[in-house]
Amino acid sequence: MERENFGTRFGVLVAMAGSAIGLGNLWRFPYLVGSYGGAAFVFVYIICVFILCLPILFSEVIIGRRSSSNAFGAYRKLAPGTKWKWLGVLSIVTPLIIVSYYSVVGGWGVEYFFKAAMFEFTTGVTRSELGSMFSKFTSSVWAPLMGHSIFLLLTAFIVISGVKSGIEKFGKIMMPLLFVLIIVIAVRAVTLPGAAEGLKYLFSPDFSKIDASVCSAALGQAFFSLSLGMGTMLTYGSYISKKENLAASSTYTAVSDTLFALLASCAIMPAVFAFGLNPQEGPSLVFETLPFIFSNMPMGGIVAILFFLALIVAALTSSISLYEVVVAYLVEEKQYTRRGASILVFIVAWVLGALCSLSFGPLSSFKIFGQTIFNLFDKLSANILMPVGGLLLVIFAGWVMKKDDVISEFTNGGTLKCNRKISGFVYFMIRYICPLIVIAVFASSLIF
Ligand code: TRP
Repeated sequence: MERENFGTRFGVLVAMAGSAIGLGNLWRFPYLVGSYGGAAFVFVYIICVFILCLPILFSEVIIGRRSSSNAFGAYRKLAPGTKWKWLGVLSIVTPLIIVSYYSVVGGWGVEYFFKAAMFEFTTGVTRSELGSMFSKFTSSVWAPLMGHSIFLLLTAFIVISGVKSGIEKFGKIMMPLLFVLIIVIAVRAVTLPGAAEGLKYLFSPDFSKIDASVCSAALGQAFFSLSLGMGTMLTYGSYISKKENLAASSTYTAVSDTLFALLASCAIMPAVFAFGLNPQEGPSLVFETLPFIFSNMPMGGIVAILFFLALIVAALTSSISLYEVVVAYLVEEKQYTRRGASILVFIVAWVLGALCSLSFGPLSSFKIFGQTIFNLFDKLSANILMPVGGLLLVIFAGWVMKKDDVISEFTNGGTLKCNRKISGFVYFMIRYICPLIVIAVFASSLIF
């Protein structure tokens, strides 16, 4: 069967950046910045992205384009008859786990978008009322399930439409919109009286705050935000034409992802400080603290609508990339039709997601390893499966694939002059430095 490719260079960029930019930037990054001491975390994060994770991102797209296969098929094709098959299995199972809990948080976004659209945050609600609104909502049965279902249906719908006319087309419209939305909101936030304190918190680092836990959180977040180690970028890489410059597309992806995370923080932290709130709120920052800010700032009603719209759009372009990994596998390895595969993934992800959603309410006392289902999925994927997947993947590119193949993929057979110049350094990073540092950070997070 003929494989589909992305149609244009811009299409490749919006798809990759769309996968990278998501809840990781709007929800996870800002609350981690708050929990890990502000600018020091931002500083370590940026180093992690550009020095450590960029070569890993190169490796992942290289494996994808070289094999022109889904995430399972890629390892089978490039290392037939070996245990690397299990990395392929991991690359299919983890996106399925992530997409199900991701869809639950996306569903919260849907609910809060409707709340914002009905101007529920403009009536002068207090901070504690918003706190109980959020916990009452997430611990109820039907409303979050409804949000989860809507979000997952939208995802399935785009994926069914195909790589070019679904994923690429959606990204081309939505990604520029997303940047416009976040810039508008950030401008509003940094012009609030008292916002300067928040900017200082974000950009003037106190280096004494950097320790092992900051490093491991920053590395985990960099992996999550760049969609690394889980077959997503591999699958998208397999849709990139042989003429495209992989290094350039990957670098643009990392730059726009980081820029977006910083813009999102500029939209949130200055406002948190302007209203004298606590930045160390944790995961509820976006759903409790922000609505309070919206309810108190001039034009807050509109900003709230724009913010939750941005959240849904950003989350959708990421969840389609996770969903596509599993669909591509079912279509190419198990001979499903695209529609059939999408329906099967919908059913499995819906059930898993429903369990996550209910783990805030009726299933909250059901614990595995002392964690609720939602926390288990989140911790397992971000702290264990992703670093392990990413580590194995660079080892695969650095030690299992032939050096000539990796370099040739990186330089398009030697025709890209700039890439040729840096290829030696990049290969050195892939082969030695990246695996070592990932192991070191991973080990230190287990010890401390
Ligand atoms: N990067 C996305 C975000 O920041 C989430 C995501 C999409 C992801 N695909 C992934 C995370 C693959 C890990 C692995 O929200």
